[in-house]
Amino acid sequence: MHAILCDNYGPVDTLRYAEIASPSPDTGEVLVKIHAAGVNFPDALLVQGLYQAKPQLPFVPGMEFCGEVVALGEGVNSPAIGQRVIGFNPHFGAFAEYTVAPVQCLYPVDSAISDSQAANLLCAHGTAQHALTQRAHLQPGEQVLVLGAAGGTGLAAVQIAKAMGASVIAAASTPGKCELAKTQGADHVINYAREDLKDRVREITHGAGVNVVYDPVGGDAFDTSCRVMARGGRLLVIGFASGRIPSLPVNLALVKEFSVVGVFWGNFVANDAAQSAANVAELLQWHREGKITVSVERSYPLAETAAALNHVVSRRVTGKVAITVSRAD
Ligand SMILES: NC(=O)c1ccc[n+]([C@@H]2O[C@H](COP(=O)([O-])OP(=O)(O)OC[C@H]3O[C@@H](n4cnc5c(N)ncnc54)[C@H](OP(=O)(O)O)[C@@H]3O)[C@@H](O)[C@H]2O)c1
Repeated sequence: MHAILCDNYGPVDTLRYAEIASPSPDTGEVLVKIHAAGVNFPDALLVQGLYQAKPQLPFVPGMEFCGEVVALGEGVNSPAIGQRVIGFNPHFGAFAEYTVAPVQCLYPVDSAISDSQAANLLCAHGTAQHALTQRAHLQPGEQVLVLGAAGGTGLAAVQIAKAMGASVIAAASTPGKCELAKTQGADHVINYAREDLKDRVREITHGAGVNVVYDPVGGDAFDTSCRVMARGGRLLVIGFASGRIPSLPVNLALVKEFSVVGVFWGNFVANDAAQSAANVAELLQWHREGKITVSVERSYPLAETAAALNHVVSRRVTGKVAITVSRAD
């Protein structure tokens, strides 16, 4: 089969489009023929050696996909051969024509969602949903500030916070990104490249601050967020796309009585299969009801996966990009 190989940790341009043996499913695993793979910022961190996990080299990157079941490993009775599924692969391997994944990481999907959208549903929306529900316990009517609001997981957080009945302030760095967040449900937008984030949040919330911050950016945006938390607020640590892992002045947490809450969706999926399956069912229901959507800006063929990853890490992407593998939408 064709696949993208990471031979050495380094720049995404060093990834290689190669022909390798197809994997076969072990006990508890399922072999999936991939139609499309989702592209996520952590994929780029992984191949650069900057992610929490460091798979043994060489390896095939790629965390999530949409495809069809073609073989079952020992001890696996379902999903049926031919079933269309989305999946999250904790051992990576989605940038390929075939992948094997643990059966508990696969979820059947119907044709209401396209391949490239389905392939991009789990990581970004799953993270936002887990963060806002199980971690922040977001309540209807609360104010949420979403940073990097036109990025993959930021845009998902805008949609999900709205679906949960919150009021959403979206912060992004260009007029186009702000407009996208607005069209997908944000009540207010702040161009934090031009406007003062702290002043604008205080203005919008009439000085009260926000109950929840969703932060996939880190760096300066995190520092400012600590200063606009309402009492009892939850600051969700999602990621550090800016490249700087910030430090917390804990005196601010004391004075404002807010909590800093870590979020690691991959660990959640690995450790709580039942809640994770319930979350995916809810995401698919929200998708059917039109409460959420997956905005796929563009698709790349498998051989051009490095270009897709570069598009994401260069701060140009709006929403998501997909890798189309064996079938076009
Ligand atoms: N904790 C978890 O479970 C989990 C799950 C998924 C992702 N993540 C993490 O969340 C972060 C964002 O992931 P994503 O998939 O949403 O990425 P993305 O689509 O690239 O969005 C990231 C956003 O960060 C902002 N940003 C600020 N400085 C940037 C820079 N120097 N380079 C690139 N972007 C920059 C950009 O928005 P503006 O231009 O508007 O500022 C961009 O839209 C990553 O660190 C990722 O590892 C964590």
